[in-house]
Amino acid sequence: MTEPLNRDGAVAITTPPTESKSRLLQRFWERYFYFYDTLNESPPYRRMVERHAALLQPAAGDTILDAGSGTANVTAVLAVPGARVTGIDFCEPALERCRRKVPTAEFRVADLTRTLPFPDATFDKAACSLVLHYLVPERQRFAATELFRVLRPGGALAITVFAAGFNTWRVYAETLRERRRTDGIVGTAIAGVRYLINTSRIFYYVWRIKRAEQSGDYRFATAEELSSILAGAGFQVESVEPTMAGQCWTALAHKPAAPLR
Ligand SMILES: C[S@@+](CC[C@H](N)C(=O)[O-])C[C@H]1O[C@@H](n2cnc3c(N)ncnc32)[C@H](O)[C@@H]1O
Repeated sequence: MTEPLNRDGAVAITTPPTESKSRLLQRFWERYFYFYDTLNESPPYRRMVERHAALLQPAAGDTILDAGSGTANVTAVLAVPGARVTGIDFCEPALERCRRKVPTAEFRVADLTRTLPFPDATFDKAACSLVLHYLVPERQRFAATELFRVLRPGGALAITVFAAGFNTWRVYAETLRERRRTDGIVGTAIAGVRYLINTSRIFYYVWRIKRAEQSGDYRFATAEELSSILAGAGFQVESVEPTMAGQCWTALAHKPAAPLR
């Protein structure tokens, strides 16, 4: 399969990660997913997830892609009745879990560092939540070009990435603050104890992710960098806003509609 061209007509990118490196990464995610959904207890995470639906406004008749579906939390909010939602992820074991969680959606294995297995202009809308920063910068641009290609002209993309300097403690502190408002001090303390082990594991996994970022395997983004990646792929960037207690950026972008003849 040939790599797609970028807007200047040049081959977009160099080689994707090797098979063995890709498998290592997939195993990392497989293990993380045993406790990943504890994040659903965090209001800042849930708001970020819901924000993708608010920005994309999924409706009956829409074809929607969730790129990097993980445990299908974003897929679930996009899968409104009558919408045809497809989740893709390179972590195959995760997909079984996704199928159980959102039986109305279709889930397929696909690697965002490679050409996506869809023809041009397949989808009306796409979400890509907490995935792009796990790619090296050149592959981030490549993946953005692929998301652009599989969207129809006029189609919308909602995308979230870790902000440069991502701080897990800020998300945790905001989670505790908000839960204290809704559950009170006692309720928050009980939840804190109940989720203590999983929360510690999430801290540990995010620490590993941050270490990988420092060594250059991943790349978190400033708002300007995210805009530039999207614009470089051809998108019109409508908005970039802080989410997840200010530790992520969520952008809305459109593929320009085909020019009138
Ligand atoms: C933090 S999870 C995000 C899951 C979900 N979108 C969410 O917002 O909760 C990151 C996901 O990206 C997937 N991923 C990472 N690199 C990928 C790649 N190259 N191709 C496809 N999926 C990838 C992982 O398997 C994982 O499911």
